[in-house]
Parts: sequence; structure tokens; C-alpha cells
Amino acid sequence: MAGGKLASNYSAWKKLQTLYDSTHKSLNLRELFDSDPKRFEKYHRIWTPSSDSSKQNTSILLDFSKNLINEQIFETLLELAREVDIPSATEDLFTGKHINTSEDRAVLHIALRNFSAQSDPKWAISEPGVDEVHPVLEHIHHFSDAVRSGEWKGYTGKSIKSIVNIGIGGSDLGPVMVTEALKAYSKRDLNAHFVSNIDGTHLAETLLKCDPETTLFIVASKTFTTQETITNAESARAWFLSHAHDRSHIARHFVALSTNTKAVTEFGIAKENMFQFWDWVGGRYSLWSAIGLSIALVIGYENFESLLNGAHAMDKHFRTAPLEQNLPVILALVGIWYNDFYGSQTHALLPYDQYLNKFADYFQQGDMESNGKFVTKDGHRVDYQTGPIIWGAAGTNGQHSFYQLVHQGTKLIPADFLAPATSLNPIESSKHHRILLSNFFAQPEALAFGKTEDEVRKEVGANATEALVKSKVFEGNRPSNSIMFPVVTPHLLGALIAMYEHKIFVQGTIWGINSFGEALPPIISYKYSHAFKILDQMGVELGKVLAKNILKQLGSPGDVKGHDSSSISPFIEHSVMLPHSSHRRATATAPSSANALAGSPPSRRSPFHSDYNSKPRFKRVGSYQIRIVDNKELYKDLASEAICSIDRPKLENGEKVDINFTEFRPVTSYTWIDKKEPVILVPGK
Ligand code: F6P
Repeated sequence: MAGGKLASNYSAWKKLQTLYDSTHKSLNLRELFDSDPKRFEKYHRIWTPSSDSSKQNTSILLDFSKNLINEQIFETLLELAREVDIPSATEDLFTGKHINTSEDRAVLHIALRNFSAQSDPKWAISEPGVDEVHPVLEHIHHFSDAVRSGEWKGYTGKSIKSIVNIGIGGSDLGPVMVTEALKAYSKRDLNAHFVSNIDGTHLAETLLKCDPETTLFIVASKTFTTQETITNAESARAWFLSHAHDRSHIARHFVALSTNTKAVTEFGIAKENMFQFWDWVGGRYSLWSAIGLSIALVIGYENFESLLNGAHAMDKHFRTAPLEQNLPVILALVGIWYNDFYGSQTHALLPYDQYLNKFADYFQQGDMESNGKFVTKDGHRVDYQTGPIIWGAAGTNGQHSFYQLVHQGTKLIPADFLAPATSLNPIESSKHHRILLSNFFAQPEALAFGKTEDEVRKEVGANATEALVKSKVFEGNRPSNSIMFPVVTPHLLGALIAMYEHKIFVQGTIWGINSFGEALPPIISYKYSHAFKILDQMGVELGKVLAKNILKQLGSPGDVKGHDSSSISPFIEHSVMLPHSSHRRATATAPSSANALAGSPPSRRSPFHSDYNSKPRFKRVGSYQIRIVDNKELYKDLASEAICSIDRPKLENGEKVDINFTEFRPVTSYTWIDKKEPVILVPGK
């Protein structure tokens, strides 16, 4: 099993450095094409799935001829892949070896779409949970059919019209991207919404579009402890109950996608409404799992399965094709050439297809969370660059935004251009698509070959100033890949996503890092760690732990300690100075803070608005008395909100206690009050 050797210690790596030093000043794409009429022949690959999927209109053309490589460079990149032993690392992945070393886990998103296990022993994987994949798919099948057909009814007997997926990161981005990419295959009268941000605006604005009688909430969280998701889910449940008035109705309107049965049932979602997955599914690789339920609901189960099949077809290619024919391997190697030798900081994903407008957002997490690591698997600080910054937007919008810098800026920005040959919306006899494709072809050409000074002079004439001439020169020699496919289908999209997943895997393997690590045993002891998960991506964990401390301090300026001079105190002081009335208006009565602050009349009401006035509430900092009705988790909830202090840690049912609110602003949030639902609040003194 590849163990995290420093990439810079491979002899092929050293050879690549020498090659870069000796060629980078002279390597020129114009000359490379002029001197070799067969360049495209050499540097393109067409992948079509093997027989079982051949009915599908799937094939991918990868043209990597517009890269700053020659035969020697390409051969040495392949030599690096051989020296790292990518084929055996790939086998480790596909056979369920515990390549996620920090968590000692297998990495088996490939098992979620493995339709060959029955027919081919090579594809059988023995890891607990793998045999449950198909029963869960069946569950998804039945449930999505029932909802889509209208057979699944809400608490008043109406069919479901809106689904709201509540999740974040990998429990959001995959479903968001795929449902957008496959909108053409969607059930148009089922509205899909996605709520991820802890900012209450995201939930509030979504609920304004929903009817509680016809809305299904999908709480998607691998751990079921993610602060954003659980807080949003609790507020959604409160909103629902404020209409349904009976907790038994939750069963018709809330389902969960998770690995954590205990937390799901504690939340109030019945076990039969839970769709299971397993700890060997990484969050950013989870759209193939139960996390894809919203996808199945939107595009139908058959299309969802076709998406999985497309990914499996790409898995087969990746596992079996020789390195020099292997699309993910080629993309990975060419990426390493720029990232590690040319010093490129970023990589752009530029799909010329409106349906793929979330593709770059999706792989921002997929790539950057996987390969944004500076320590190898065996604990060494790398002395080279690892994962690039991934970004991009759909063409041609990007052309009117950031392409200027890509063409004439001072940075080398490798890019992948992606496009379907055929549009799913061939309006005006595909006039739009022809224009779109003309741009898709033109941009890589312009980047590669640019426009010389001579060409500019001919164009602008003898009277043009030198400054004008110079500013119109395109240096060219800017690399890109062009990736084309027949049309966006579920099968094709599955293959495309899997291709990039495997690219990430190959790069991470070469860099010797753990692309799949999610969490280590707690390294920071935190008093309230039981309340929400603190184990996370290690790179984001620190910020989250700090945020939890700050959350507790926010209610009490006096408690703000242990931060640098700019971090919090000035902001707290600033907010304390805001007039009380503006807080009230912004948080309680106005539909949007923008309106409130501008003093304009509310145009519509927040979905939480009516509850604000009908609920008992604390007015300001001070002492209040509460009667405990159900002490379950009370102390934890109050303490973790950090807006009050309680005189004793243990509270008994039925007793009255004094609590002292140290919050300096009015506690007006319905959400907050609802969290204390088991508590009867005695109006303040
Ligand atoms: O913050 C990173 C992360 O752990 C991702 O890896 C994951 O996709 C996301 O948070 C959400 O986690 P969960 O599905 O457990 O709510």
C-alpha cells in the first residue's frame, strides 16, 4: 500500500524538474503544433464505456494537445505514475484496503456504484456495509417512486410538492450540482430546494416558498452532528410543527440520510425514514450514496441508477486502462506538471453548458478538501505544492468576467474546457449552441496561440500607437484541456464526475498525502464537544472550535478573552453600540434586515415572524425564572448557546430555577426559544 513517500524523492520527479529547467523557456505551443502535424493524434484520447453500457450515449474525448508538453515530458510524467505505482494504489482503492490512514478506513464510494460484483469476482469487496448498498438503493427506489407518484402523502393527505435538502459540504454540493446538471430530466412539478448556510436567511427564504402540508425535509448529514445542518433542521422542524401542531406528523415530512442512527432517532425521525450509509463514504464522495436521495427524487430512480452506472463505467476504465490511455491519470499528470513545476496556483473548470454551472463549485470541495494537505501520510511536511485552487464558471459568462486575466494577465492558469456536442435545448435550430461551441473552440485556441505583434500591427494599421499595439498582443502559450462529450445525460455525468474523482486520487497518491482523511481523534479538548461535532476536516476544525468558543462569548462582552486585538472585541463593542430598536426591527419585526435598516416598509413577512409574537421571550439581559418541564439536554442546550448562565448544572423536572441572561441584545429568535420547547418560560421580572 502506497505509504506517503515525498513526491520529490522519486527519480522521475527529479527528472521532470530538470526537464522543466531546460525546456520551459523554449517550449511554445505554436511551434509544437507547427513542427508536428500529428500533435492532436498523439495527445488526445477517446473513451467509450465497455459493452455493458454501450447503449448509453456516452463517450468522452480528451484533447490534451494544447499543453506545454513534448514526448519526453509526457513519457517522464508517465514514468512518475509508474514509479509511484499508481496501478497498485488503484487496486488498493478498489479492493477496500484502508487507504484512509488517518481514520483507518476503506474508501469505497466506488462500492456505491459497483454493478459488477455479482458477475465478476474481481469487483467483490469484503467490507462491512458493502452488502447493504443494494438494499439501501431499493429503499431509495421505493421511496422516490412513492413521493414522485403522489402516493406518499403529507399530514393533511396532500402529495409532496417541494423537497428541502438540509445539509452542507458533501451533503449538499453533490445533490445541488447534479440536480442542476440533470434538470432536463427532472420532474418539473416537484420543487427542489437546498438549505446549507447557518445564516437563517437561507432557511427563511426557502420556507417562504414552501407549504408545510406539501413539503418533505431531507436532513442530510453523514455524522448528524454538523452544527449548521442540525440547527437548520431543528428550525425547519419548529416551523413545520408551528403549522402541524403534532409531533407524530414529523414522520410524513422528515427523512434523514446519515450514518448515525442514534442521533437521527433522537432528532425524532423514525428509523424507517432513515437512509443509511457507511463511514467508508467520504462526505465529498457521497452523492452516490443515500445522500443522493434528493437526486433520485428530482430525476427519478432509473436516472439516478444510470448516473451510478456511468460512474461505474469510468471506474472500470480507470482500474483497467493502461496509464497512457487512462483519462484520470492523464489529467492528473498534466495537472502536476503545472502545479509543481510551472508553479501554477490554480486550475479552472470551464463548462460550456449552462446545466453544468455548479460543476466547479462541486469540485472546489471535491479537490480542495481532498488534496489541500501539507503533510504526507507518514507525517512529513511536503516540499512541493499539493492541491491547486479549483475555480470556474460556465461559459460564456466567464468570458465576460475573468477571462481577460486568463488571457492577458501575468499568471499561468491551466484550464479544462468542457462541452457537449449536442444541446438539450436546440432552440432556433441550435443557433445558440453553435455560438456557444464556437466560443468553446475559440478560447483554448486563443489561449494557446495568442496574437503576435506582427498580427496586431497588420490589424490596427500604421497609425496605431505603440501602447495600443502592445496592449493588443496575446502572448499565447497558455495551456488547456478540451473535454467533449455527446450530450449531458445521467450516465455521462456519472462518468465525468468519476473521472475527476480519480484524477484527485491519482494526484493525492503521487503527492503522498491522504486525500480521504476526515478526522483524527480529538486533539483539542473542548468542553461542549458533545453538543456538536468538532471532529472534521482538520483544516476547518480549528476554525470551528474557535467559533464554538466565540459563540459562547458573544452573549457577554465581558467574557471575551483569549483573542487577538482585532478578532472579536471591537466588533462586539460596535454591535453593543447599535441602538436597541434597530436590533428589534432587524431581528424580529422586519422581513429583511436590509429593509429594516433602510427604514423601508416590510414587503413580506418572515416565515418565523408570527411565532415571534406568540412565544414567551426574554427581553434583555437579566434574571428570569423558568420551570423545568423536561430536563432532557436542557443544561447542554442552554450552556452551548452561551447566552445565559444557570446557577446549577443539574436541573430536575418540575422545579423552578433562576437563570441569568448575560446576552446583551434581546433574545428574539424563534429558533432559540423553540430549542427550549420543553421549558415553560415564566415572564421576566
Ligand atoms: O466541513 C467539512 C465536512 O466534514 C465535509 O467533509 C462534509 O461533507 C461536511 O462537513 C458535512 O458533514 P456531515 O455530512 O457530517 O454533516
